[in-house]
Amino acid sequence: MRIGILGSGGLGTALAARWTAAGHDVLTSGRDPGRTGRGFADAAAHGTDAVLVAVPDHAALGVLAAIGAGGGTLAGRTVVDCTVPLVPGTLTLSTAGGPSMAERIAAAAPGAHVVKAFTFAPADVWAAEEPPVFDGAPLGVPLCGDDPGALATAGRLVTDLGATPVAGGGLDRAGLAEAASAYLIGLWAGGADARTVLPRVGRDTARPTLGRR
Ligand SMILES: NC(=O)c1ccc[n+]([C@@H]2O[C@H](COP(=O)([O-])OP(=O)(O)OC[C@H]3O[C@@H](n4cnc5c(N)ncnc54)[C@H](OP(=O)(O)O)[C@@H]3O)[C@@H](O)[C@H]2O)c1
Repeated sequence: MRIGILGSGGLGTALAARWTAAGHDVLTSGRDPGRTGRGFADAAAHGTDAVLVAVPDHAALGVLAAIGAGGGTLAGRTVVDCTVPLVPGTLTLSTAGGPSMAERIAAAAPGAHVVKAFTFAPADVWAAEEPPVFDGAPLGVPLCGDDPGALATAGRLVTDLGATPVAGGGLDRAGLAEAASAYLIGLWAGGADARTVLPRVGRDTARPTLGRR
């Protein structure tokens, strides 16, 4: 697949290396084309199969505007959004009370098929040489999105990392993924092992049933 990555921080760089090793044609970009060799527009044009938004949330909409996403440059494309919208220096959501970042990105890129993914694991997990297996099970990566083709593309990208795609609901649930990720970051920052707070549903506990209104 041809993958364009908007951002060359820890996450974008780690995923780029793993996808390149898996045989994909990946172009990473940053603010300074002199450093990465390419600018955001180059990566967006390159990513005909998928574009990964891997810049801070406060920068994402500006980057999309700069590459002409508002005019439809990403229409029909799979756009994978991995932003965790935290107020800088805090553990609270910068989007609180409003749409999720994934929904804002979808609004800023008309026609793009946005999938929320990769918010739950730190970049170190993908930078490691080995596929991410914990307690004997491959790492699950929840995907939130509405377009079946885009979800399939994102699922293949997850599989090619040695992880397992997990159906995470529609884009209207992306805000919950963002909030849960922010909460887990807070647990990790406090020194807790976030995996210890999650029992295995179906084995340790009964599966929850959804109430009717
Ligand atoms: N790191 C993780 O463990 C992790 C895990 C899950 C999700 N995420 C999410 O993934 C995204 C990327 O995180 P990251 O840690 O890889 O890197 P980051 O430090 O959040 O972002 C680095 C990239 O964003 C660009 N950038 C920074 N400020 C910008 C601005 N104002 N305008 C335009 N571009 C700007 C940088 O450009 P230059 O190249 O010019 O510096 C760089 O390419 C974030 O939204 C984060 O919440 C990160």
